[in-house]
Amino acid sequence: MSDLVLELVGLTAGYGDNPIVHDFSARLYRGSITTLIGGNGAGKSTLLRAIYGTNRWFSGQVVFRGEALEKLEPVARLKRGIGFVPQGRCNFPTMTVAENLKMGCYTLPGQKHAAAIERVVALFPVLRSKWRIEAGNMSGGEQQVLEMAMVLMLEPSLLLLDEPSLGLSPKMQADVFATVKQIASIGVTVLVVEQNVRGALMISDQAWVMEQGRKFMEGPAKEVRTDPRIRQAYLGGNIKHHAA
Ligand SMILES: Nc1ncnc2c1ncn2[C@@H]1O[C@H](COP(=O)(O)OP(=O)(O)O)[C@@H](O)[C@H]1O
Ligand SMILES: [Mg+2]
Repeated sequence: MSDLVLELVGLTAGYGDNPIVHDFSARLYRGSITTLIGGNGAGKSTLLRAIYGTNRWFSGQVVFRGEALEKLEPVARLKRGIGFVPQGRCNFPTMTVAENLKMGCYTLPGQKHAAAIERVVALFPVLRSKWRIEAGNMSGGEQQVLEMAMVLMLEPSLLLLDEPSLGLSPKMQADVFATVKQIASIGVTVLVVEQNVRGALMISDQAWVMEQGRKFMEGPAKEVRTDPRIRQAYLGGNIKHHAA
């Protein structure tokens, strides 16, 4: 099977009568991490939603493992292997971690629940240590791990993450980035929107830069990180060229 997981072909999408993302073409390959960079309101969340199918499609294609999905509902895309963790965390804060994980299995056949939970708990042992804790009482980073775990139980081959480190301390942001790396290392393709551009570029293979709904630049993360325009606009202009 080809390593090409997702191909966007001239995708235009938005809300109501307003296209927000225009003519967006790009590719994602198996096991890679791509960070999507852009200012506030550039259309990053809109692009993720268009890939998952929760907003209005106008034209172009979302080709996932060879199949055009742009006219399918989100649940159909989920079944084919696209997982989406929207911005904000912890959908069920007053439920325990164990109860949250059980909720996350709802689209799986009953006999698969135990194995699915076992698998993500093995991947993220912190969840076992918080098993009976109400999710809302965990740290922000732990809640983000839980949200990712709930989506990963469905074994997506593509994971869309919208600002997973938003509002977290630097230490917790580092934990979230390490988690994203770990997810990619098991073969999951990741597309992540991050306000911590520097941190995201460090763990990414490639980057897409969006401005006003259009792709403005793309390339290997290392190159994007050292591009003078990117340094100026998103990195405070002071990143070192030789930063690893
Ligand atoms: N649910 C919505 N309905 C209508 N317009 C929206 C909606 N969500 C976002 N927009 C508009 O789409 C544009 C891009 O927003 P968004 O994709 O959230 O940007 P970003 O994630 O890059 O900050 C903004 O002009 C915003 O007002
Ligand atoms: Mg957004």
